[in-house]
Amino acid sequence: MRILIVGSGGREHALAWAVSASPLCTRLLCAPGNAGIAQVAECVDIAAEDVEGLTRFAAEASVDFVVIGPEAPLVAGLADRLEAAGIAAFGPGAAAARLEGSKAFTKDLCARHAIPTAAYKRVTHLAEAEAHIRAQGAPIVIKADGLAAGKGVTVARTVEDALAAAREALSGGRFGEAGAELVIEECMVGPEVSFFALVDGQTALPLATAQDHKRAFDGDQGPNTGGMGAFSPSPLVDDAMAARIMGEIVEPTIRAMAQEGCPFKGVLYAGLMLTGEGPKLVEYNIRFGDPECQALMMRLDSDLLPALIAAREGRLASASLAWKPEPALCVVMAAKGYPGSYAKGSPISGLDRAEAGGATVFHAGTKAGPDGAVLANGGRVLGVTATGADLTAARQAAYAAVDAIDWPDGFCRRDIGATAAP
Ligand code: AMP
Ligand code: GLY
Repeated sequence: MRILIVGSGGREHALAWAVSASPLCTRLLCAPGNAGIAQVAECVDIAAEDVEGLTRFAAEASVDFVVIGPEAPLVAGLADRLEAAGIAAFGPGAAAARLEGSKAFTKDLCARHAIPTAAYKRVTHLAEAEAHIRAQGAPIVIKADGLAAGKGVTVARTVEDALAAAREALSGGRFGEAGAELVIEECMVGPEVSFFALVDGQTALPLATAQDHKRAFDGDQGPNTGGMGAFSPSPLVDDAMAARIMGEIVEPTIRAMAQEGCPFKGVLYAGLMLTGEGPKLVEYNIRFGDPECQALMMRLDSDLLPALIAAREGRLASASLAWKPEPALCVVMAAKGYPGSYAKGSPISGLDRAEAGGATVFHAGTKAGPDGAVLANGGRVLGVTATGADLTAARQAAYAAVDAIDWPDGFCRRDIGATAAP
């Protein structure tokens, strides 16, 4: 089969790495890809958001199956457009992608179907937001409704911070259209875990759990990022908790989406908080997490591709996936300055040395220099990923690989997995 992967991050490198190992895959393309993906796939210079360009290319190149990595093209309807052109695509159509694309949609769905999540109110007018924030008090959570590249959420410790966040979004246009409506939520307390399932419209096949590290610096300090490191599985989710998450949150959501005429197909990524009252939904994403995917793919002990195809074809009830018991841990190396402004183009070396001990370096923002050197080309640049007999061993192996990499313009957190594996 000819496979096209859409995206250019560490998640897409991990997906390309897994798909390239499938005996079903005879040709692997990636748009737009990066320098690491170019080692396992043919990269094509078409942006992940270019719905028409990607559809035209997939038809011309006789692509059999498209795997869409990031949320933006899914929310924009790439899966629908490809399917309409007769090209099989993995990922939800635009109607089902609202689970990530609109927080208000998801909160209303949860309310209609009694899916546990934080209490909330939707607002579009500043006066209404201010009155609600004053009435509820702090802490309180202010969210832009639409996609805001992970920056649309303020967990406000004081009423003043909450009011400022609401004002910036509603009158300051901080998030543009995505912030024209806000969801104001009760602040939940508890550890956070990510739960991933493959879904075929009716059936959910649980994948694995993971924990991300969203803040830029050690000790969960500094600004929010797309994710600075992850490990899988999460020791916080045992079989009984996984069964509760499936039974109370994931399966009711799949049923609700089908009932409401927008069945969900693809990867459902539930961001959860394990509260005193049980697991509650923080948010849904409609794709693999990045960098959680890097850790997940290193633990996968089955061919990924048939499972993705089964999800698209509604055949997950008879599918299964095996996982290695060993944990995996991914340390993200980012350009100094990320998530703020950063320079591009600095050279990175030592990647072969880093992989010599068994780690895998997934590329995110990289490109090949004229002489074949690897150059930094984004905020999050590398995802250094290793497995180990236990989480401590995986952590040591990942950091040994990080230390073999020579990139003076990069930085990473030194405490990925530290609270779970001291
Ligand atoms: P998001 O960008 O939607 O992933 O949210 C960023 C972070 O905000 C989450 O990972 C949580 O740590 C936090 N958060 C979001 N909603 C709530 C909530 N209702 N209560 C407490 N924390 C929240
Ligand atoms: N790592 C968080 C995300 O992919 O949204």
